Amino acid sequence: MFEQKILPEYGVAVAQTPLELAVIIPTFNEAANIEPLLTRLALSLAGIHWEAIFVDDDSPDGTADLIRRIGCADTSIRVVHRIGRRGLSSAVVEGMLATSAPILAVIDGDMQHDETILPLMIDAIRTGSADIAVGTRYCEGGSTGDWDQKRRRISQIATKIGQHILKSNMSDPMSGFFALSRQTLMAAIPKMSGIGFKVLTDIVASHPSSPRIAEIPYTFRNRVAGDSKLGALVSAQYLALLADKTIGRLIPLRLLAFLCVGALGVLIHLGTLGLLLWSGTHFFAAQIIAVCTAMTSNFFVNNIFTYRDRRLTGWAALRGLITFYAVCSIGALANIGVGTWVNDEDGRWWLAGLAGTLVGAIWNFAASSFVTWRK
Ligand code: GDD
Ligand code: MN
Repeated sequence: MFEQKILPEYGVAVAQTPLELAVIIPTFNEAANIEPLLTRLALSLAGIHWEAIFVDDDSPDGTADLIRRIGCADTSIRVVHRIGRRGLSSAVVEGMLATSAPILAVIDGDMQHDETILPLMIDAIRTGSADIAVGTRYCEGGSTGDWDQKRRRISQIATKIGQHILKSNMSDPMSGFFALSRQTLMAAIPKMSGIGFKVLTDIVASHPSSPRIAEIPYTFRNRVAGDSKLGALVSAQYLALLADKTIGRLIPLRLLAFLCVGALGVLIHLGTLGLLLWSGTHFFAAQIIAVCTAMTSNFFVNNIFTYRDRRLTGWAALRGLITFYAVCSIGALANIGVGTWVNDEDGRWWLAGLAGTLVGAIWNFAASSFVTWRK
């Protein structure tokens, strides 16, 4: 396509026109879609010097191998192959950081996005008329294609929440199809959360000023090969991203999750205690059992939610549970110590109880993140 010349200093082939665009394509089990997608991209992007950066999370169907085979024949097609990782947002960001191109476009690997509007999106960035060009399903001329009622409803609600939090009237903040300049990316990147699926929401929310958005309508196509990865977890991660972008500024999301789990633990403690007393157990024994039940359940709930990304399994989970008991015992001593001190100094019993609990909980959070769920 482009004439190649050899630079003697480096010995590498350099195309005559400089690289202008990288198309970032996150993939998980998309082997059947790779070749048809590349053919379509090449048709739409004729005349632009571009490269394709796939970011594959070690798909069992061999997507990464296939891309490497294609890449041996055409060096403008590359794959960032991540092992033991999952996540659409982080994949997109890492793909963007793996290319030298000044303009970055993101498109799904399943051909559901209409690649024929890419030249319009690129033009908006190239001419500087916008900071981000978004392929949108929700403005004049765009559509979600044939989605069922339920998915359309869910998407609408999520869109409304997104617009509210971003304080933006962007019609499709959930879009996974957009283009931006490297400058815009680099301005947003230090504050990005990298959680979940919605990388565009993350970029706009993390940018220090409000980026100028151009919207280009398209119709979302049906998937032909492979399966969607959108599920309950994706929705939960979207809520986590929005929480991180709002209250996350005041209080770290993980601490918030830990405190919620702690509150749940109090209910479990009281429930167990009540049940045991009702069945005739002595208070002392009942209290010990209730404490152990609450600690154990807190460990497992935190292991699944709060520390999902560092989840302990097998023997490591047993070791984690024991260290968690140890951490919480010290937390309980701190709780009692601080509570007694506040009670002596101030006299308000409820303030003393609250202060003790808060100090204990924060200790438990800090210590368990270093000991139990250390990186
Ligand atoms: N590397 C990587 N890691 N890629 C992933 C992962 C992951 O964990 N999960 C999904 N992908 C890839 C898929 O292979 C596909 O190329 C693309 O990301 C989108 O995933 P789909 O599973 O096809 O998502 P969708 O079609 O349901 O959702 C689309 O529409 C949403 C709006 O409703 C996407 O464009 C979303 O970004 C968009 O928000
Ligand atoms: Mn899809």
